[in-house]
Amino acid sequence: MKNSEDIQMKFYESGDEAAKLLPISFEDWEKRAKQILGAGPFDYVSGAAGAGDTLRANLKAFQKYQIRPRICREVSKRDITVTLFGKKIPVPFFLAPIGINSVLHPEAELAPAKAAAKLGVPYILSNVSTKSMEEVAEAMGDALRWFQLYPPKDRELTNSFLKRAENAGYSAIVVTNDSTLLGWREKDLQNAYMPFLSGEGMGNYFSDPVFLSKLEEPPEKNVKAASKKALEEGNNTSFTWKELEYICNQTSLPVLLKGVTHPDDALLASAHGVDGIIVSNNGGRQLDGAVATLDVLPSICQVIENKIPVLLDSGIRRGADIIKAMALGASAVLIGRPYAYALAVAGEIGVKEVLENFMAETGLQLAISGRSTFKEVDHLLVTEEFR
Ligand SMILES: Cc1cc2nc3c(=O)[nH]c(=O)nc-3n(C[C@H](O)[C@H](O)[C@H](O)COP(=O)(O)O)c2cc1C
Repeated sequence: MKNSEDIQMKFYESGDEAAKLLPISFEDWEKRAKQILGAGPFDYVSGAAGAGDTLRANLKAFQKYQIRPRICREVSKRDITVTLFGKKIPVPFFLAPIGINSVLHPEAELAPAKAAAKLGVPYILSNVSTKSMEEVAEAMGDALRWFQLYPPKDRELTNSFLKRAENAGYSAIVVTNDSTLLGWREKDLQNAYMPFLSGEGMGNYFSDPVFLSKLEEPPEKNVKAASKKALEEGNNTSFTWKELEYICNQTSLPVLLKGVTHPDDALLASAHGVDGIIVSNNGGRQLDGAVATLDVLPSICQVIENKIPVLLDSGIRRGADIIKAMALGASAVLIGRPYAYALAVAGEIGVKEVLENFMAETGLQLAISGRSTFKEVDHLLVTEEFR
């Protein structure tokens, strides 16, 4: 892995050229993506549920905390690795599951998967990917990957997805349970944008023998009906703790629950057998007016007492955000929209660039705050005193 200063120096030494190449800030990636994408796909990524209050709250929560650095410390050797489920991971961040990447780039999920694999960044493949989990696995070789599941209503289909993920080398299952119904997304409604209906994002369903066996007509004959059937499977509004327990018992892989924002749910999840929790509100795309994830992280970590890992997403834009989340108890974080925009702008190269910049900035932030590993990062590194 390149060190932070080498990556930083690459920009200074490239002189004016750098300005013409890829963006650096989140805001510039977003701007470039807006220039490239049509309103449908751009709004699908940037938009949120309702008024967008939760999307903004997520970002604002990071501003409430400030980093309180210590100086004159030995930070010449930095280590930004973290260990999860007994595995050492080179960076404290994952690529969040983001569905339907084919609307952002022709290579779809293969582009972020390859970029992640090249850098050793773990990738969480969305259940609603356009490429199948086997195609993505092939593109990633032995690199670390998890599979995200929208738990289907049908247990036979659930079992099939779990088995396929195990066979294709995914090493954990992320069950997302904040999206059993699609949030009220004003921009998508205005744009009449629902790419699922034409078969985008259906890679895992349309390659599944159990799913195909339940269709009256194959997707080649009636793509809309097949896609609607897949969406109905995902609208699993009867999914409760019992169903979660079923999934935990059904797979040998660690299971993480994504979408937790209440400490009582964190405790219930743990009691029903999950191996990890992801504090997430889907980037504000599901429940408008919901609490920001960083605000609820400390109370969740407090009840979990380090028994299982607690990850966080929704609002991670820069290295400082990662440091703050880790200081407040996260074991690692997930990066969402930043890589979606980079994918739209420059495919695999774009995602690789964003990830390298996250690595560099996180290492620098750690060192400049007076820490050389995440083991030294705790709540003492941040304060709310001066807001
Ligand atoms: C365009 C888009 C598609 C997403 N698709 C999924 C998905 O298929 N499964 C899932 O669990 N979360 C999905 N998410 C949520 C992300 O995994 C993550 O929680 C969110 O992006 C974090 O918020 P942030 O991007 O504002 O940091 C999606 C998010 C976006 C922006």
